[in-house]
Amino acid sequence: MCGIVGYVGPRQASGLLVEGLRRLEYRGYDSAGITILGPDGDLHTVKRAGKLDELDRAIAVDRPAGTCGIGHTRWATHGPPTRDNAHPHTSADGSIALVHNGIIENAGTLRTKLQAEGVVFRSETDTEVVVHLVDRLWVKGGTLEDAVAKALEQVIGAYGIAVVSSRDPNKIVVARNGSPLLLGVGNDGEVLVGSDAAAVIAHTRNVVYLDDGDYAVLTPDGYRTYHLRQGPVQRQVHRVTWDLEAIEKGGFEHFMLKEIFEQPRSLEDVMRGRLLEEEGAARLGGVTVSDADLQGIERIVLTACGTSWHSALIGEYMLEELARIPTKVEYASEFRYKNPVVDEKTLVIVISQSGETADTLAALREARRRGAKVMGIVNTVGSTIARETDFGVHLHAGPEIGVASTKAFTSQVAALALFTLYMARRRSLSILEGRKLVAALQALPGQVTEILQQNDRIRELAKVYQDAPNVLYLGRGYQFPVALEGALKLKEVSYIHAEGYPAAEMKHGPIALIDENMPVVFLAPRDGVYHKVVSNIEEVKARDGQVIAVVNNGAEELLGIVDHFIQIPETHPALLPILTVIPLQLLAYHIALLRGCDVDQPRNLAKSVTVE
Ligand code: AGP
Repeated sequence: MCGIVGYVGPRQASGLLVEGLRRLEYRGYDSAGITILGPDGDLHTVKRAGKLDELDRAIAVDRPAGTCGIGHTRWATHGPPTRDNAHPHTSADGSIALVHNGIIENAGTLRTKLQAEGVVFRSETDTEVVVHLVDRLWVKGGTLEDAVAKALEQVIGAYGIAVVSSRDPNKIVVARNGSPLLLGVGNDGEVLVGSDAAAVIAHTRNVVYLDDGDYAVLTPDGYRTYHLRQGPVQRQVHRVTWDLEAIEKGGFEHFMLKEIFEQPRSLEDVMRGRLLEEEGAARLGGVTVSDADLQGIERIVLTACGTSWHSALIGEYMLEELARIPTKVEYASEFRYKNPVVDEKTLVIVISQSGETADTLAALREARRRGAKVMGIVNTVGSTIARETDFGVHLHAGPEIGVASTKAFTSQVAALALFTLYMARRRSLSILEGRKLVAALQALPGQVTEILQQNDRIRELAKVYQDAPNVLYLGRGYQFPVALEGALKLKEVSYIHAEGYPAAEMKHGPIALIDENMPVVFLAPRDGVYHKVVSNIEEVKARDGQVIAVVNNGAEELLGIVDHFIQIPETHPALLPILTVIPLQLLAYHIALLRGCDVDQPRNLAKSVTVE
């Protein structure tokens, strides 16, 4: 997704803006630009297609001076990643510059209207219509914020914008509707704006999250917040708790590898203070709904996207098996447009690492509109989804920078296990069964550490399969969602086509794909369906398929059948996904590296999909 930065204060802005954009690179982009208000009173814009190094080189040639400016990294939605389509976009006379994240749904209509009025467009973007609207709606003697507010009244769609103008200097106007935006409240008369806290954390921990419909005016004297319909509003100042080093690589070659190796710690953090050993239960302070209301829940709907949807599938197995609550999983993008059967006796759980995924946010709002209680399982504190749910469980996994989600996935599964325990011990789960689950949860960080020690071995295995054109991932029960997740990891970082399937489904068609050129990854831990999976492995071997199996320590009977194996420790069947996924994360990472792929910023992908 696009990244927005802005700075107004006593310091030179150009270097601060580019540094802020670098902190947002992980969001995914394909062009970038800045606009600075110069000492000559004019706006100076530099923008380039490609990565930030291109922009840096251009700025180094003729660094624009000035202490007020905006910057942008663009993830193309309308129009290819060219210099003309890069932001900022300017008004015809160059006196206004604007950057935008989101999609203007009525851009076509507005463009036609503006062109009929003689406006000449220089890009193919939807964004450009907004800067021309601001220009044409600016009444003589008026302020930038008034012109922006008037323009936004005509805009339909999702936006986060930042605007500067030489007509109203030393001021940035920002506005948010559907695309995240926050203010960084610095010391010494400086105020920043960013798409997320990573853009401002180097300068301040004090942030103000804007809500949908908000806009704000930033000057060296401070900031003022407004709502398009309500007028002046007050927004709370939050304190960011994580450090800058959390968004650095910490000695690892890539964020993805760093975050894979952070999982022992992130699992400790998601469980910290939430396990009740004696009672064999969980304590979830963020689940503020009453026990009576929880007892009244008749069904649960889990909804999310991508990897978070995979963790939701595991949650479905957990909640039905252990808490005996009818549960179903919906893609958020489907849920929001179907006519879901949801009412006040339904608990809808939305799962999101970023807390900004547009489809998941829309599903949340649809569920609330229908009277359901909505719970969040979210990593990013202060995110829109975290703030709009009725209650929830934060992952405390720290920022996840790599586009491919890894530590968030295992923390989501652990959080779902905690919530399952929380519900199950209020229903039918015995204290003894509860204690077993608590003990298994407590052992996870050490077990993940043990698996990570096989990193070198998995790197060697990756060399065998780095040129495979396709890969199948198969698992049963709790391992079926892991098969989906393993396939997604490989697809999104190595660009190899991969599919996840329930292992038993093979004989209903996909087995036709099996031959000596089709590697098959089996999740085959010793659980209730292990022997069925062994049979499926034998069916694949009988057709010359190559088999990589993730097995429990000591699965001697399999070691003579499969081509490669990775051994993991034993644990509770419901928690096995947290262990079986680790080798798949590493396998995808190493194959992608061998293929020369951009592991942290895979092509076409964004870390947080804030558009439909
Ligand atoms: C997973 O590796 C992908 N980056 C993607 O599928 C992601 O899980 C999905 O976009 C949902 O993101 P969220 O958890 O931030 O809502």
